[in-house]
Order: sequence, then C-alpha cells, then structure tokens
Amino acid sequence: MSPSDVKATLSFSDGSPSIDLPLYKGSIGPDVIDIRKLYAQTGKFTYDPGFLSTASCNSTITYIDGDKGELLYRGYPIEQIAQSCDFLDTCHLLLYGDLPNLTQRDDFHKLVANHTMVNEQMQFFLRGFRRDAHPMAIMTGLVGALSAFYHDSTDINNPQHREISAIRLIAKMPTLVAMAYKYSVGQPYMYPRNNLSYAGNFIHMMFATPCEDYTVNPIIERALDRIFMLHADHEQNASTSTVRLCGSSGTNPFAAIAAGVACLWGPAHGGANEAALNMLEDIQKMGGAERIGDFIRQVKDKNSTVKLMGFGHRVYKNYDPRAKLMRETCHEVLTALGLHDDPLFKLAMTLEKIALEDDYFVSRKLYPNVDFYSGIVQRAIGIPVGLFTAVFALARTVGWIAQLNEMISDPEYKIGRPRQLFVGAKARDVVPIALR
Ligand code: SDX
Repeated sequence: MSPSDVKATLSFSDGSPSIDLPLYKGSIGPDVIDIRKLYAQTGKFTYDPGFLSTASCNSTITYIDGDKGELLYRGYPIEQIAQSCDFLDTCHLLLYGDLPNLTQRDDFHKLVANHTMVNEQMQFFLRGFRRDAHPMAIMTGLVGALSAFYHDSTDINNPQHREISAIRLIAKMPTLVAMAYKYSVGQPYMYPRNNLSYAGNFIHMMFATPCEDYTVNPIIERALDRIFMLHADHEQNASTSTVRLCGSSGTNPFAAIAAGVACLWGPAHGGANEAALNMLEDIQKMGGAERIGDFIRQVKDKNSTVKLMGFGHRVYKNYDPRAKLMRETCHEVLTALGLHDDPLFKLAMTLEKIALEDDYFVSRKLYPNVDFYSGIVQRAIGIPVGLFTAVFALARTVGWIAQLNEMISDPEYKIGRPRQLFVGAKARDVVPIALR
C-alpha cells in the first residue's frame, strides 16, 4: 500500500483541534483513511458496527468490486479461474500467490493427496454425537479437535508449521465432511483414495461403500470441483474476519479455522445455501411458481422476518459473479443427469426473474449470491441439504488459511482488540440485598 498525497482533515464543530489523517492507496479499489492514531490524538473512537466502512487489513489475496460484480483471486478473474483451473490450482494460487507450473502442480497435488487421512482416533469423536446432529456442529468439533493431534504444527508463528498445517487442513476437510455424512447415515467411513482427484476422492468417500466398486461420475466430479473453486475465498467476509481475529491471539491454525467453521454456519452467511434450498422446497410445497407472489409479499412485509435466502450481499450491489457460474453449473449438471426439468431449478430461475423485476429488490440492489444456486447443484449431486454448509467450509478452508497466514506473516500484525461506545450504567455502589 502506498501513502496518498491527499490528507483527510477531521475538524470538530466544538472548536476541538482538527487533525490530519493520512490516506493510503491500494493497487485497485477504495483508498483508506488511516485512523490508527485517532484515539491517541483525539481521545475519540470511530463507530462502525457491522464494519460497513472499515478496512480491517491490507491484503493481496482476493479483490471484489461490488458495483461491477467483479471477483479476482490474486488478480485472476473468477470466470477465467473457473474456465481454466481446478480447485487445487486455486489452492496453490491463494496460498502461494500464483498458479502452479506443471511441476509445482504435480508436487502440490501429491502433497495434498498424502495428507488426506485423519488419525484413527478422530472417528471416536463422532460417536459422541447423535446420528441426527447437524453436520456443522460435528465439523466445528472435529476441526478444533485436529489441534490435539498435530502438536508438530501448532506454532502459528513458525512458517514451517503454517505450511504443513495448511496442507493438512486442505487435505483433511473432505475426509472429515464425508465422515460426518457417513456417520449420519450409519454407513462405514470410506478411506481416502490417493489415486483420485480432490473432488473425486470426496465423492468416493461420500457415496462409495466397502461392498462394491464405485466409479466417480466425471460430470459430478467437475461440478463439485467448480463449487469448491467458487467458494475458495472472498476477501474479509464474516468467517474470514473471525479466523483473522481468532488467529491474532496466536492460537493454533486448527483452532482458528474451527472458529471460521462456527461463524460460517449462520444463515446470514454460509448457512444461506441450506436456507435457500429449504426456502425453495417450502415454496414448492405451497404450490410452486404460482405461490411466488405470496412469498415475495411476505419478504417485503416489514413485520415479517422472511428473507429471500440466497439474495443480497454486503458487498455485491450487482450480480454475484459466482452465482452466474453456479447457475451455469446447475444447468450443465441437471442436463447431464437428465434432470433439466428439475422443478426446484425452474422455480429458482422463475423466482430470480420475478425478484429482479421487482422494485423492492432492484432499489435495494439485491441480486442472487453464491448461495442461491449452489444448493440445487449439491442436491442434484446427492449431497443432503444439511451438508451444504459443511461443503462450503471445506472449500473456504484454503481462503481462511491464506488470509490467516497473510496476517501472521505481516510483521506489523497485532492482536485484534476493538473498543466500544459505552451506553450502560455509570459507576454506582452496591446496595445491601436487604435494601434492594
Ligand atoms: C455469503 O460477505 C461475504 O462475502 C459472504 C459470502 C462469502 O463468500 O463469504 O459472499 C457468502 O454469506 C453470501 C450471503 C448469503 N446470505 C444470504 O443469502 C442471506 C440473505 N441475505 C441477507 O441476509 C443480506 O442480504 C446479507 C446478510 C447477505 C447482507 O445484509 P446487509 O449488507 O447487512 O444488508 P441489510 O441487511 O442492511 O439489507 C439492506 C436492505 C434491508 O432492507 P431495508 O431495511 O433497507 O428496508 O435490504 C433488505 C434488508 O431488509 N434485504 C433483504 C435481503 N437482503 C437484504 N430483503 C429480503 N431478502 C434478502 N435476502
């Protein structure tokens, strides 16, 4: 980042001395006003709950232009990544800053493949859960539990530890998600197969059984690989900010990623893909397309808490480029699987069309986001709706790690410790209970 020759002058109408604040320019995107010395100079804090106007860090990893609907991973447009790369190429790009050459690609694939197994003790954690436990409850527990097994890679300030824990997490997430699924259906766990691709291995662990050979469907393999790629990273979203703040205390990488898993679970964030599919099924049950009008009326009713799940975004005030690519993948997979008449996909496209012509959504710049179509593809692939957010966590693990490592490698990083505007009781004395 480079200092701008423009200064921001903050003045107060009560005659308090004004101060100049430096501005910094990025390579692209909005400039920032450096307020790090504001409290020391004025005794005042800024106030920005929800961080609508706050840059928490500087980063070189992912850039989003919400007005244009643009998403770049290390400068490469997501459309080109989706067209020309696979998920492990994307992991290499996010972790190390560039796409791999042929040798690097081969080495990286082998490195990840050789870390896909989890310690045999991990399976005993699952036995503590009910079979109908939500997969994200299981994943929050399992990812945190990984820190109990890898004492040789828990020092986040050690670059070698950061490197090996990154590979371990990327490699083991599919194994853990598949274990959570197998546990919920009462089937035996399937061990990873190092001769399969990253997505192929996940499909095999999910749907194969020890009783017969299982062949991975290449169409599903490619679709899942793209779903992983589209979810890999997304700037300073809620779960990434959680991982950064958690990691800033110096905790181990597994614990920081577990915090990200917990945050992603929320329906306003990664839990929206599960909520969006449930919403579509509810509309379908109520009568399908002819009930969309009633549903939209509920959404627009200020007294109702109903939201159009999979729509809207804090940053995108245009179409989420990932939603476009996800809709394409939807169409490809459903057609290939002979499900092009899938009623939910048709309903989703009708709902999208109606919403995008309705002033409530247009005036608020509410467009489909990545979660609107991802559930339809995952459902077509055979992934149960309760597992959608765990798949999102599997894919986002690389982004969380890349962002965590970027923060920890910055010599200027400090533990994150926001302040507050206190509006509670002023100092007062305890009254003896007999007099209360
Ligand atoms: C992800 O940050 C990221 O990058 C996240 C993510 C990533 O890759 O990490 O992109 C992944 O989380 C995508 C978002 C998934 N969430 C959903 O689809 C849930 C539904 N969407 C909303 O909850 C909402 O749009 C948010 C949470 C995503 C964004 O909310 P904001 O930015 O805080 O905006 P807001 O709630 O202040 O909404 C502004 C207006 C409000 O109306 P008014 O008060 O102005 O009258 O838009 C309305 C909201 O009521 N609104 C919606 C709506 N989203 C916003 N109304 C109906 N349906 C919606 N989905």
